[in-house]
This record gives sequence, C-alpha cells and structure tokens, in this order.
Amino acid sequence: MYGLVNRAIEGLVLEKFGEETWRKICARAELQDPSWVAMQAYDDAITYALVGAASAELGMDSAAVLEAFGEYWTSYTIEEGYGDLMSMMGGSLDEFLDNLDSMHARIGGTMPELVPPGFEREPQEDGSSILHYRSEREGLAPMVIGLIKGLARRFDVAIEIEQLESTSAGHDCFRISAS
Ligand code: HEM
Repeated sequence: MYGLVNRAIEGLVLEKFGEETWRKICARAELQDPSWVAMQAYDDAITYALVGAASAELGMDSAAVLEAFGEYWTSYTIEEGYGDLMSMMGGSLDEFLDNLDSMHARIGGTMPELVPPGFEREPQEDGSSILHYRSEREGLAPMVIGLIKGLARRFDVAIEIEQLESTSAGHDCFRISAS
C-alpha cells in the first residue's frame, strides 16, 4: 500500500502510545528502515506486519487495531491535505458512501499504483443501508467499520454498523442504520 497508510499507522501509535511503543512495534515487525514516502507504493506485507506487531505489543486483537486505524484515517487524511477532496464527495454520510469509488478513482490519478477497494451502497426500505465492500486484500473488514464510524462522527450522525455474514471471498457487507 502507499506509504501514506503506513505513516498513518505510525501517526496513530505515536499519538495514542508514544515513541517508545512505536519503536517496539517496528522491532517486532522486523522493519529495518521504518520510514515511508507518502506517495510511494510499498509491499502490503509491511502494512500487515505493522498491524500484527501493534496487535501483539498493545495486547489488542488485530480487528481492534484495524478498527481504530480506520477511524483515525478519516481525520489523518484531512490533516494530510485531502480535506477538500473529502468535502467535495458529499454533504451527508449516504452521499459520501455513494461516492467512495469516485473518490478513490481521483486519488488513483496521483497514486497510479493504487489498488482501491470497491463500495456500493444499497438503500433499504426502512431507511438503513447495506454497504458492499469488495477488496483484493484479505482481512480489512474491521478497518471499514472504523472508517464508517469516523465518517459518521464527521457528519455528526449517530449510527449503528453491523457486519453481515460474508457470502463470498473478497466481498463483505455491512448494515448501517440510525441509532
Ligand atoms: C481522502 C481520503 C482518503 C484517501 C487519500 C484514501 C487513500 C487510500 C489509499 C492510499 C489506500 C491504500 C491502497 C493502496 O495503496 O493500494 C486506501 C485503501 C483503502 N481505503 Fe481509502 N482513502 C481515503 C478515504 C477513505 C474512506 C473515507 C474510506 C471509507 C470507507 C476508505 C476505504 C478504504 C479501504 C477499505 C482501503 C483498504 C484497501 C482494500 O480494501 O483493498 N478510504 N485508501
């Protein structure tokens, strides 16, 4: 993944746990040179190693690390200069979710090696939404839960999100409803 992602993991750990913990996580992940250029693509194995090492070091399961990371990502990207893009993508949570693919397509304009996720929102009669998430990567559904929680905070709406039973590999579904 692009260095921006690994840098965000670093940012989250530094903010919540400090420098010493970050050093221990990098040592556990056996990273020789834990520094990344935001706009350069790196092997996904680095990102997964960081999540695994953070989970072991902090005594949290990796789903909890990924969820915290997803939530942090919605504010980190704004700090990193993507605030205008985020604002252009919708004035409500539903509209924003509908535009996630066009947003990643735009990002792909400056990050040509991006392997973006795919999202599709299906509005339900009761006002809730089913969000389909498709990815070439494994195990990132908990990150999506954190991302949606972060977006709900951004739009100041109270939601509940529940992951539905997965029917096929690379395709996860979530129900998002007002709480
Ligand atoms: C402007 C803000 C954002 C930027 C700059 C951004 C950029 C990126 C980048 C660089 C990656 C790594 C993919 C790669 O390097 O190949 C990524 C992955 C991902 N993004 Fe975004 N993103 C943004 C917002 C969001 C939001 C709001 C969501 C909400 C659902 C989201 C969902 C994901 C997911 C789930 C992945 C994991 C990749 C996968 O599933 O294969 N992103 N994004």
